[in-house]
Amino acid sequence: MQSPDLSIVVNGMKFENPFVLGSGPPGTNARVIGKSFDLGWGGCVIKTISLDSSKVINTAPRYAKLRSRETNEVVGFENIELISDRPFDVWMKELKQLKKDYPSKMLIASIMEEYRRDAWHEIVKRTQDTGVDAFELNLSCPHGLPERKMGMAMGEDPSICEEVVGWVKEVSTIPVWAKMTPNVGDPTAPARASVNAGADGISLINTILSVTGIDLTTLRPLPTVEGYSVPGGYSGQAVRPIALRHVMEVARAFPNVTISGIGGIETGADAAQFILLGSHTVQICTGAMLRGYEIIDELKTDLGKIMAEHKFEKLADMVGKSLPYFTTHADLVARQKAAKAERHHGNNRDADTWKGAIAKETDALTTN
Ligand SMILES: Cc1cc2nc3c(=O)[nH]c(=O)nc-3n(C[C@H](O)[C@H](O)[C@H](O)COP(=O)(O)O)c2cc1C
Repeated sequence: MQSPDLSIVVNGMKFENPFVLGSGPPGTNARVIGKSFDLGWGGCVIKTISLDSSKVINTAPRYAKLRSRETNEVVGFENIELISDRPFDVWMKELKQLKKDYPSKMLIASIMEEYRRDAWHEIVKRTQDTGVDAFELNLSCPHGLPERKMGMAMGEDPSICEEVVGWVKEVSTIPVWAKMTPNVGDPTAPARASVNAGADGISLINTILSVTGIDLTTLRPLPTVEGYSVPGGYSGQAVRPIALRHVMEVARAFPNVTISGIGGIETGADAAQFILLGSHTVQICTGAMLRGYEIIDELKTDLGKIMAEHKFEKLADMVGKSLPYFTTHADLVARQKAAKAERHHGNNRDADTWKGAIAKETDALTTN
C-alpha cells in the first residue's frame, strides 16, 4: 500500500494534513504562524482577536501546571490568559500577508466580540477582507471574558449561541466553526443551537474551568497574582478523556457537521482517537507549547503508521470509525448476558441465533 493520504477537505477547504495549531500562544503573531507553516502544520487557528484590544489586560503569572508524581512531566495546564492584546489593525495586515505567503495553508481567524450584532458584523467583514479561509467563533473562553458577557457566557447559553452564529452567518462569506465550551452538562445543546443557526463546523473543546492547586508555603491559590487568583482554563493531557467524550457526543448527534477535535492531543495516537470519534481536523495548543512546533513531523509519521496498520488509504475513511461502538448501558448488559450464555452452552449457536438473542435481551431490558 502507498503511504496513506493525510489530506482532507473540510467545508471546501483543503488541509494538507489534519494538524492545526489551536487558538492560543502558538498562533500569537504572523512570525510564529509562518514558522509553523514552514515546519509542516496543515493550518492554524490564530489567537482570538477582537476589535478593541485596549480592553484586554493580562496578568503575570497566568499559567499553573499539574505534574505527574512519577515522572514530573506536565500532565495538566491551567491558564488565566485572555484573548489577544495585539491591535486589530496589526492583525489585519499580518493575516493578509500570511495568506499571500502561504496560500495553501489553512488560516482560520478566531474572533470574539461583545453581545452586539453590529460589533460581530464589523469584525466578520473586516477580517474576511484579509483572505482568511474560515472563522472560528470563540464562544467558550471560561475566564476573564465572561465578566464582560463574552466567551463562555455566550457559549453556555444555547439561545445566545444561536443568535451570535446567526449574526455571523448574515455577513460571512467563508465557513464558520463555532468553538464550544466543555463547562456545560449537555454538549449537544449549544452545538445544536449553533448548527441550527448555520454553523458549518463545531470545534471542541475549549478549556475546562479549574483550580490547579494551592501553594502550601503561602496558602494562596495558583496561579497567584499579587496574592490572589481566579479559576482558570484547564488543558493538556489530563483533559483528553473529557474532550473525547464531548467530540463523541456531538459527532453522534450531528453526523453531517464537520468537527475539529481539541483537548490534550500531543501525539499521532492521540489525534487518531479524535479522528476515530468523528473529528475531521485536530487542534493542538498546549502540546505545541510544551513540546514545540517541531512535533509536527512525529505527529504526521505516527498518524500515517496507524492509518497504514488499519488500511485506511485516506483520512476521510477513518473519520468516525469507532462511533458505532457506543451504545446504552442496557445494551451492554444484554450483550454480556448473551455472550456468557453463548460461552456456557458451547459455541454451537450460529451467528444469527446469537444476534437474535441479543435483540431479545435488549427488548426485554428496555421494555421492563
Ligand atoms: C495559554 C492558553 C491560551 C489560550 N487562548 C485561547 C484563545 O485565545 N482562544 C481560544 O479559542 N482558545 C484558547 N485556548 C484554548 C485552546 O485553544 C484549546 O481549546 C484548549 O487549550 C484545549 O486544547 P489543548 O489541550 O491542546 O491545549 C488557550 C489555551 C491555552 C493553554
